[in-house]
Formats: sequence, structure tokens, C-alpha cells
Amino acid sequence: MKLGTKFIHAGVEPDPTTGAIMTPIYQTSTYVQAAPGQNKGYEYARSQNPTRTALEAAFAAIENGNFGLAFSSGVAATDAVIKLLQPGDEVIAGNDMYGGTYRMFTKIFTKFGIKFHYVNMQDADSIRQYVNSNTKLIWIETPTNPLMNITDIAVVAAIAKESKALLCVDNTFASPYLQNPLDLGADIVMHSVTKYLGGHSDVIQGCLVMNDKELREQLYFIQKSCGAVPGPQDCFLVLRGIKTLHVRMQRHCENGEKIAHYLRNHPKVGKVYWCGFEDHPNHEIAKKQMRGFGGMMSFTLKDESVDVAKKVLSSTKLFALAESLGGVESLINHPASMTHASIPREERIKNGLTDTLIRLSVGIEDVEDLIEDLEMAIG
Ligand SMILES: Cc1ncc(COP(=O)(O)O)c(C=O)c1O
Repeated sequence: MKLGTKFIHAGVEPDPTTGAIMTPIYQTSTYVQAAPGQNKGYEYARSQNPTRTALEAAFAAIENGNFGLAFSSGVAATDAVIKLLQPGDEVIAGNDMYGGTYRMFTKIFTKFGIKFHYVNMQDADSIRQYVNSNTKLIWIETPTNPLMNITDIAVVAAIAKESKALLCVDNTFASPYLQNPLDLGADIVMHSVTKYLGGHSDVIQGCLVMNDKELREQLYFIQKSCGAVPGPQDCFLVLRGIKTLHVRMQRHCENGEKIAHYLRNHPKVGKVYWCGFEDHPNHEIAKKQMRGFGGMMSFTLKDESVDVAKKVLSSTKLFALAESLGGVESLINHPASMTHASIPREERIKNGLTDTLIRLSVGIEDVEDLIEDLEMAIG
């Protein structure tokens, strides 16, 4: 099946009770049993819900995996993966990833005795020096939020296999339209479904996709035991969002490319971070593992003053100043004070995330209007 057909039909069958082509919202907390232990596969909605079942099948289909699990947020999905570990276990993670992931690792799980190494993953081979017999998980985000750094998934997958560690890839920025980490050897794919999969800035949700049945059972046990499950209405909205992922992503990519080049040619713009540029340090790897380069990018201004950056951030009319990304509408964001504020300043700056960096989530509006908006704001 080609990509577009897959996104429209992924995991969804007509509803068995009525034939409804769209999976109904099963707004129920429990299911009536004929006799104790005699049920139709559904007992209690924390463990199973038919709307969620359809969505989990869709997640598996669009990431070319065998199993999908839905969570109440992206961070809840990340939390479930770390709960596979025990005190004493070690994790190798990127030194440039979503601030909330870093906050969870440093502020929540370190105190349970899990050790995290934060590593520059742009040279994937350099990860080897951090591997030891306690390494149980390698966590990568590619492209990274917000610096658009690229990690070679296949190389890290080989290192994970040699070290008998799991590899989990946060595929939020690329979406399954652009990249499928399981095909490159990853064990688990994680998404903040809130972003491109939902696509309309109206849902908070996360997911995990995997091939191994035993791993699925362990993660399902964590999902139902810890209870971070999404409600059926949110599952319905995401089922609907996935059906247009390919057309949305095509436009995000087209608009992204035009805006990245517009910014690069702007006399007041300093550096533009977008993995589609041929001189991006890992462009060749991006080209190898992605089908396009998406609509996420960051840039700095030549005038490095925070006030000038803040003025641009507050002047756009179409680009809304907001956290989050991946919706149909364009957003502008200040990572240092918004999405990445939980990373200590010196840590941020060391890894290239400066106080004046501006991040764009380029939406699917008419690109001429978006460029006009930026032109007016940058001046
Ligand atoms: C790359 C990435 N991973 C994970 C998350 C967390 O997802 P959520 O906000 O759905 O909990 C985000 C949120 O911004 C993100 O950008």
C-alpha cells in the first residue's frame, strides 16, 4: 500500500456492530459481562476501549510496526518507556532534545536510580564510548527540537543491538510520513501525537509503536497499571487527523522549503537551522532516512539582542506565538523561555540553544501570506 492510501485506511475497519465507516466514540468506562469473566474482549476502559483499539491499530500500521499503544500525552508515552528500566540501569540520550523529555529524565527518573548520559548524537559512532553492561536504553530524537540536528538511526540501531539495549526514537518532528524508525532497526517509536498526527492543535496525546510481542506486553502492562490512557473522544480526533497526514505533510514540506530559503536570504537573519539545506552538517543522513525535510526550522537574527528577537516574536500576525507544533496553522516560539525553559541556561547554551533562537512550525496556509507576515515582523 502506498503512503496516502495507508494513512486513510490505517487500522480502521467498519464498526462491527453497525457498519459505521468512522469508528464511533465509545464513551464508556465499563462493559457489561454475560457471566463473571465472560465478556466481548472489553472489561474496563483503562485497559481497553474500542475507539482506542482502532487508533492503536492505526499507529502500528502507519509506523510499519506490529503493535501500537496510545497514551494521554507524549510525555506519558516517554514515561512508560523509562518504566521498563530498573535502578542501576543506564540510558544514553541526546544532549539536544525536547526540554520536557530532559526534565523528566533529570528531575523524575534520576532520583529512582536511573543514570542518563546526554550525548551529542550527530556523530552516531561517538555513542559507543558511553555503552557499558548497564546500558539498557538509547533514546534519540531526530530531527531534534529545536536545532534540527540529525542522528543516523541505522547506525545507532546497530550499536543498540550489539549492546543488547533497546533503541527508542522520538519521531515527533518527522512524522511517519517522512521517516519510519522501525524500518531502520529501532525497537520502539514514540510520538507526541499532539503534533503532526493530531494535526489540528486540539488534542494532547502520545503513542508507542513496536514489533516485539513481549515488549508490547510489558508496555501494555505499564499502560494499564499506571493508567495514562487517552479518552475515546481524543482517539476519534486523532483517527480523523491521521487520514490527512500525507496531504498536510506535503504542504508543510513545500512551505517549509520556501520559508527556509526566504530566511536564509534575508539580510537581517543570522543562522537558519533546517535539515533540507545541502550544507546542513547531516543533510546526507537526513536524505537517506527521510522522505522530505518538513516544516520545522529555527533561526537567529544577526542582531543578537534578546529585545530584537522578542520584538519579532511579538510582531507576527499569522504565525501565532505559542508552544507546540505540527498543526495546520503556523506557530512561532521562543525555545529559551517556552518549550526548553526547563533546561538550565548554561546547558542550553553549551548545546547551541541560544537566548535569541526563534523556532517556526510552518503551517499549511498560503506561503506568500506567511512570507509577508515574516517580512513585516523581521523588517
Ligand atoms: C519532540 C517532542 N517530544 C515529546 C513531546 C512531549 O509531548 P506532549 O506535549 O504531547 O506530552 C514534545 C512536545 O512538545 C516534543 O516536541
